[in-house]
Amino acid sequence: MRPELSSQRLWASVEALALHTEPDRPYTRRAFSPAFASGRAWLGEQFRAAGLATRIDQGGNLIGRREGTQPGKPLVIGSHSDTVSHGGRFDGIAGVLAALEVANALSDSQTRLRHPLEVIDFLAEEPTDFGISCVGSRAMAGELGAGMLNATDRDRRTLSQCLAEVGGDPAGIKHAFRGANSVAASLELHIEQGPILESAGKSVGVVTAIAGIRRLTVDVTGRADHAGTTPLHMRKDALLAAADLIPRIDMLARSIAVHDPAFVATVGRLDVIPNNSNVVPGRCTFTVDIRSRHDNLVEEFAAMVAQAIPRDTNAGMTTTVGVASSSPATMCDARVRSAILDTCAELGISHMELPSGAGHDTTYMARLGPAGMIFIPCKEGRSHAPEEFATPAQLAAGGVVLLHTLLRLDSILD
Ligand code: GLV
Ligand code: MN
Ligand code: MN
Repeated sequence: MRPELSSQRLWASVEALALHTEPDRPYTRRAFSPAFASGRAWLGEQFRAAGLATRIDQGGNLIGRREGTQPGKPLVIGSHSDTVSHGGRFDGIAGVLAALEVANALSDSQTRLRHPLEVIDFLAEEPTDFGISCVGSRAMAGELGAGMLNATDRDRRTLSQCLAEVGGDPAGIKHAFRGANSVAASLELHIEQGPILESAGKSVGVVTAIAGIRRLTVDVTGRADHAGTTPLHMRKDALLAAADLIPRIDMLARSIAVHDPAFVATVGRLDVIPNNSNVVPGRCTFTVDIRSRHDNLVEEFAAMVAQAIPRDTNAGMTTTVGVASSSPATMCDARVRSAILDTCAELGISHMELPSGAGHDTTYMARLGPAGMIFIPCKEGRSHAPEEFATPAQLAAGGVVLLHTLLRLDSILD
């Protein structure tokens, strides 16, 4: 019996997982939150119901395994189930649920692959309150170091504590590392998060490369004072100083984007301390998210930002710039790309190749073996917003390509 995807079951799973959200902020399932824990519990049940031997590894990844007819390196499919605040129902989720549906289809048809199959919900792909993204896939690639595990959030919790709470093992983190060449191939289905596929009328995007991402943290320290009694000329207002820096950073980014239109830099998070209407802001921190497929441009821009920011402003304030995280640009594997292209051609599914400006767990999986990504269109390119949408048919088309690319890789790879 040939494995067949159930579009209905796949769509029902999207609707079911969407219920695990902060009720007043749909869709919000931040890693390490109660909504994330309940979503994970639900996913674990679904993994087991699909016949997968299910566990959480030291890096907090939820892994469901189906043995193959031969021992050896696994084929890996999956993505992430955490969301940004006020995010959508598809970013990451589409890839986890399509992978789960593939496992269901294999189980229903009693299809045994040659390779073991691992379906993975990678932990905390979105930037966490610790400033670190791709927590689980970094751990698998051996790149979640002690510095990252000791990072603290606003409540002074460490990433290490949070990792333990979701079933990971920070003390044994080195055992999450799979080792180079430990994976036969990995495939991640994901919504495009941009408008290209929809406007080109294509059902599938075959990803060529994933942008490198560096996140800086800029920390301005002034002095908190009473807003009613401190004369304007005697203030050390950290928010005003930060507000002055942000457009300067944007100008620098535009000067680089002249050479590479895909180069982007964004100040997307600002924390004002103490954030009270009647207190002069004493401290202000903000992030700078830098992306390019050219690592040298990321490097150059980060140096420009560091140079442009005065450590001591003339108002007696101090400013520091730190690197919260960094991942290099990643090329998708040529064999995996060809396997996706051949599968689309065989199934008569319209497709095109395109790069990804968004970050993905595949960046880290590419350290462990040949890796590739299948994009599906999303409505008006919207993502990281509740309006994020892909139709049941678009999701199912991507799922079918995922299933048949997996079968193809199973037959051609060692
Ligand atoms: C992940 O969503 C990212 O690109 O930041
Ligand atoms: Mn994602
Ligand atoms: Mn995202």
